[in-house]
Amino acid sequence: MVASNRLPVILKREADATWSVEPAAGGLVTAMEPAMRRRGGIWVGWSGSPEVGQRELERALGSELEERPYEMRAVGVEEVVHRRFYEGFSNQVLWPVLHGFPPSSATDSHDWESYRDVNRRFARVLARVAGPTDLLWVHDYHLMLVAEELRALGMEGRIAFFLHTPFPRLPELKKAPHHQALVRGLLSYDLVGFQTPRHESNFLEAVDAIGVRAVEGNRWAPPEAPPARRRGRSGHFPISIDFDEFAKGAESPRVLDRSTRLLRELDGRALILGVDRLDYTKGLPEKLHGFNRALRRFPELRGNVVLRQLVVPSREAVPAYAETKARIEALVSEINRQWGGEAWTPVDYRYERWEREELLAHYRIADAALVTPVNDGMNLVAKEFCAANAGSGVLILSAFAGAAGDLGHSALLVDPGDGEGLAHAIGTACAMPRAERTSRMTTARRSVRHRDVHRWVSGFLEAGGRVGAPQ
Ligand code: UDP
Ligand code: G6P
Repeated sequence: MVASNRLPVILKREADATWSVEPAAGGLVTAMEPAMRRRGGIWVGWSGSPEVGQRELERALGSELEERPYEMRAVGVEEVVHRRFYEGFSNQVLWPVLHGFPPSSATDSHDWESYRDVNRRFARVLARVAGPTDLLWVHDYHLMLVAEELRALGMEGRIAFFLHTPFPRLPELKKAPHHQALVRGLLSYDLVGFQTPRHESNFLEAVDAIGVRAVEGNRWAPPEAPPARRRGRSGHFPISIDFDEFAKGAESPRVLDRSTRLLRELDGRALILGVDRLDYTKGLPEKLHGFNRALRRFPELRGNVVLRQLVVPSREAVPAYAETKARIEALVSEINRQWGGEAWTPVDYRYERWEREELLAHYRIADAALVTPVNDGMNLVAKEFCAANAGSGVLILSAFAGAAGDLGHSALLVDPGDGEGLAHAIGTACAMPRAERTSRMTTARRSVRHRDVHRWVSGFLEAGGRVGAPQ
């Protein structure tokens, strides 16, 4: 049984009072959806519209719901509570702090109360639908307190948690109000999983700092149980994608057809691809600065490369996101004004969502992908590019993405804050001999294929199945 803030669908009420349904964006859904399709189970989450619960979900999805190999349960929350929970505490306190940014000063104690409240509501739904032997698997920073609430309701079964974001060092964590309550809340889980060993050790440092005595290595006694009865533990489990879904999808006739048309449109120019959700953690201004410098430094790139940058709309009601969008758009205009002309637009910026086939066709034909987050739990775009690319694309990857752990040897690693280094990597990628490109991409693909999302799920569930038993 899985719980995450987001269900894999977004419901929207149209002007004529009907419902439209679109797939949700983001790495959590991309990774978990194929896993749920393969294994079945129940997915508890938010429908994408406040106050929209199970009844509307069933009405909107109709028979499509029955055809899915897993069930969905929508948790409906009143609009104001939801706004404080999602835009407030989750995305103006937790998201920035977990990524090493300061929290917004615009949040208040109502946001924290709403965060607790929504976690309690998720716990109530889970308690209703879970059987005594089910392993409950809760995902991400929106739901850190669900296990504590479930324990308060008398739930004794196994509950595991996976954090998709980074976990920061103590000085950064302390910038979040209620950080001690959050860390304590995590200790009610039997297993707390992180993307990388570094994030796990940062968490253990925070556990130590709140004075939990029974920590030995990565194990602890949960606060609400007699210490001898059960132990919780942490672990690291780098998330991945469904390799076959991307690799085979990129060979489908429709994607091949779209790839051919894209190549024709490019008219011999090299394609450098960027795919990011709108987010200040994604290093988009840094990427644009680096590209600008590359055009200055390597005249042979002018007129011969295009940076096509997809920015997927996200969290637009949060002021920092609107500001980031304005900054990106100003930089795009500046670069295009400075270098472009009638015949050539250096940055082809798209602010929209792409269907999977459109995304695959771009991954397939791109000569390079620029993935430059300033901090990222994993970054699945990097792995998707490798799985879907036709074989000689170059991955330029931030050293601050969790994906650098798996792909660091095959990618050109960069520090997005170092514009000169980034420009150099772009120049290197464009001039790289074909044999080296192919060899790097072959290594990267092998790594993504070998450690795909199904293996990740098995590893996590196996660890989750072993923990939490009374001792
Ligand atoms: N993606 C999407 N819609 C799009 C383009 C991309 O849902 O129009 C997906 C992409 O395939 C990837 C996810 O969004 O799986 C982004 O995941 P990532 O881990 O890179 O970053 P996140 O957005 O989760 O922070
Ligand atoms: C990241 C988070 C996910 C989230 C996704 C999209 O991947 O880790 O929990 O679902 O971004 O963001 P959104 O706010 O639209 O759910």
